[in-house]
Amino acid sequence: MDRRQFLGSSIASALVLTGCGGSSTSATGGTTNSNDEYSQALIIPAELKGTLKDGRVHYDLEIQTGTSNFLSNASTETWGVNGSYLGPTLRLENGSNVSINFTNKLPEKTTMHGHGMHVPAIMDGGAHQVINVGETWSSVYKVNQHACTNWYHPHLMGKTAEHVINGLTGLIIIDDAKSQQLDLPNRYGIDDIPLIVQDRSFNDDGSFDYSPTQREKMHGWKGDTLLANGVIKPFIDVEAKQIRFRILNGSNSRVYNFALKSGKAFKQIATDNSFLEAPVELTQLRLSPAERAEIVIDFTDTLGGNDLFVDLDSGKEVCKINIKSVATKVTDLPQQLTTLAQLNPADAVNTRQFILSGRQGNLTINNKSMDMSVINEVVPVNDIEIWEVKNTMGMVHNFHIHATYFQIIERNGSAASVADNERGYKDTVFLPAGESVKFIVRMTDFTDANSPYMYHCHLLEHEDLGMMGQFTVV
Ligand code: C2O
Ligand code: CU
Ligand code: CU
Repeated sequence: MDRRQFLGSSIASALVLTGCGGSSTSATGGTTNSNDEYSQALIIPAELKGTLKDGRVHYDLEIQTGTSNFLSNASTETWGVNGSYLGPTLRLENGSNVSINFTNKLPEKTTMHGHGMHVPAIMDGGAHQVINVGETWSSVYKVNQHACTNWYHPHLMGKTAEHVINGLTGLIIIDDAKSQQLDLPNRYGIDDIPLIVQDRSFNDDGSFDYSPTQREKMHGWKGDTLLANGVIKPFIDVEAKQIRFRILNGSNSRVYNFALKSGKAFKQIATDNSFLEAPVELTQLRLSPAERAEIVIDFTDTLGGNDLFVDLDSGKEVCKINIKSVATKVTDLPQQLTTLAQLNPADAVNTRQFILSGRQGNLTINNKSMDMSVINEVVPVNDIEIWEVKNTMGMVHNFHIHATYFQIIERNGSAASVADNERGYKDTVFLPAGESVKFIVRMTDFTDANSPYMYHCHLLEHEDLGMMGQFTVV
């Protein structure tokens, strides 16, 4: 029943204790009213650093059922990882050997995919790595990629949308030698704040209202209430300094256009799979489902003030930021964050086309719906390829690939139309109605002719309707 049951880190409890504006706990011990706007502190998912055993870092995770109190007057049956809703943030070090062990304590089978992870297909947790009830599945690999913010979620054929709605989502933060040297806010939960934004709807009895009609599935289901880290309209108290947010659009199908209510500008520093070479100044940040962005907002001069994090598209509010205390450590955002190796389109040996279309309740890629037994594309290792994705429909989609990152080289046929904040490494790209994108990609390792990776639209209702395909690396 404890809504903070998935916590456990001292940082998180410190936040709850010190972050209290006077209304998040009551002297009489009564229940907190989460319907009172901004009376609940933002929950910071616990950080899980793993335990070192025989040169390998082990992370033990239980996928389980639970009860959460999002609403003041009713509780909600939910699913979570090591708790009742969402899961801990896995903190991985580039170069380390890890074993991420998921035990399925749910009443049904599921899978657990490391979204953005560069790992062998059999360790990917995609549709084929089913975890039966009561079983443990271990994803064992050596972390080999740039510092970034990834995430984990189920990927069971036809069930992904529902399993994610129930609460199965957590972050994976990868650190590397370079990221640790940059003068960036990096105190987790203090000036480096994870923000998983989701939309849900509730029935009167508190249960999640998720029973999309065929039409809602086709258009992508949207909930009427936003949650930030599993809390409706929370507040967060921060120091008067540069604050980093690691934002995940963890919604099934809702696309956000994030902004600060004040209109204040901020800097995006990272895309899905890497830092940007230099910070990009923005006043609005568009994120489609599964995309991540790290941003830095400078509150140095606004001690005592506050701002709201909002979605301009829906007019809905995400969370309130109170600039509450004096900085205990100052950071100075570097002008250069990294250098990214660029693949040259002239070196591409193949171009593949992916046409997103559909009709009569069927969504397809290249006119085919996902079939677990069909390998749609065979990609030779180390070849540089251009993948061209076209959204031929009058509705939004996006496109995600497993296995590795890509770099966007054209939008709607124009290199100049690729936004500055899309020039980092990406694994998911937004495709507004009727638009197209070209990206360049190279599969660098993990050849396995028998175990496919997936590519798909990450609007989860669309993925479940079949807008997905499989590729192997050979
Ligand atoms: Cu986020 Cu195929 O997954
Ligand atoms: Cu993925
Ligand atoms: Cu789609």
